[in-house]
Amino acid sequence: MKALILSGGKGTRLRPLTYTGAKQLVPVANKPILWYGIEGIVAAGITDIGIIISPETGEEVKAKTGDGEQFGAKITYILQEQPAGLAHAVKVAQEFLADSPFIMYLGDNLIEGNLSLFLDRFKNQQTDALILLREVANPTAFGVAEVDVNGRVLRLVEKPKVPPSNLALVGIYFFNSVIHDAIANIQPSTRGELEITDAIQCLINQQKKVEACQLEGWWLDTGKKDDLLEANRIILDTTCLTQSVLGEVDQKSQVIGRVQIGAGTKLVNCTIRGPVIIGNDCYLENCFVGPYSSIGNNVQLIDVEMDHSVILQSAKVVGIHQRIVDSVIGQRAQLIVAPQRPKALRFMIGDDSQIELT
Ligand code: DAU
Repeated sequence: MKALILSGGKGTRLRPLTYTGAKQLVPVANKPILWYGIEGIVAAGITDIGIIISPETGEEVKAKTGDGEQFGAKITYILQEQPAGLAHAVKVAQEFLADSPFIMYLGDNLIEGNLSLFLDRFKNQQTDALILLREVANPTAFGVAEVDVNGRVLRLVEKPKVPPSNLALVGIYFFNSVIHDAIANIQPSTRGELEITDAIQCLINQQKKVEACQLEGWWLDTGKKDDLLEANRIILDTTCLTQSVLGEVDQKSQVIGRVQIGAGTKLVNCTIRGPVIIGNDCYLENCFVGPYSSIGNNVQLIDVEMDHSVILQSAKVVGIHQRIVDSVIGQRAQLIVAPQRPKALRFMIGDDSQIELT
């Protein structure tokens, strides 16, 4: 069994954060989204992993993620020259996959819990394809499945205008090698992509064994700012369970509840109320950092109040006395505000932005 993780594509929906970086490397609780997928796959016992990369962001993905040793896996990078669709990515990976069954994992998806359950089901029932479905409020944004009363998949449609159900296709699929023939038989969709949804539909038409499992836990497609904040909230809630302070906290500061503070970080006259994660080599002075915040390495915060926000590495925020909420601040961004400014500021600031309200 192999795994294929898709980490190419354009990442247009997370712009401006993804102008300068891969969307799969945007951190959730200070760890790239992609790495959660790799860890989940390795935990299910699969260590031969191919990662699809794009010409624009591939080098960054490779440099950060490495050859897989840190995950106990062997990673092979596969370049997809154009983001020509999920099924196109499988085509490009055909040499790596050979005739092995595989799990295909979209690098911007996060799910709760264990892949082993689905993997066992895929293996035991000897299906040609196993898909995961989850009820959603906005099915038009996804691939959607029509199922009969017994849960058998009748039809799949990609981003339908009139959805046949509210069951979305989760970005995690299990295939055996018949998927390659199906992909060879499909044409690009109206959006110009070779859709994996159409390839699975092709398997259904050929009476191949296509099974579906409903996902009970949470599932996040981290494509947009609010999805990212929601992913950050859930991951902090489930992984930041204790207090650990490696940095320096002065006498006037208070660290309350589930808070992780990295090495080389210094807090002066701050209150931190967890769950919060603060990376290495940060400097915080006169700050309140409230629940569900993640602060990357090397960040400077002075005279700032914030909660439910993500600040990426090397950003600098100074003099924001209104509370920053529901915000994502990109790498190296600088937000510097003079005293006595108006209330209520809501941000999504891209990498390298500089904002000074004077
Ligand atoms: O998230 C689940 C949804 O993912 C499914 O419900 C849809 O059926 C499926 O088509 C897919 O839809 P998206 O529009 O969300 O896919 P997106 O273009 O965001 O690409 C998903 C991941 O695959 C992302 O990490 C980028 C990567 N990718 C995408 C394309 C089009 C590639 O590596 N190569 C590509 O050519």
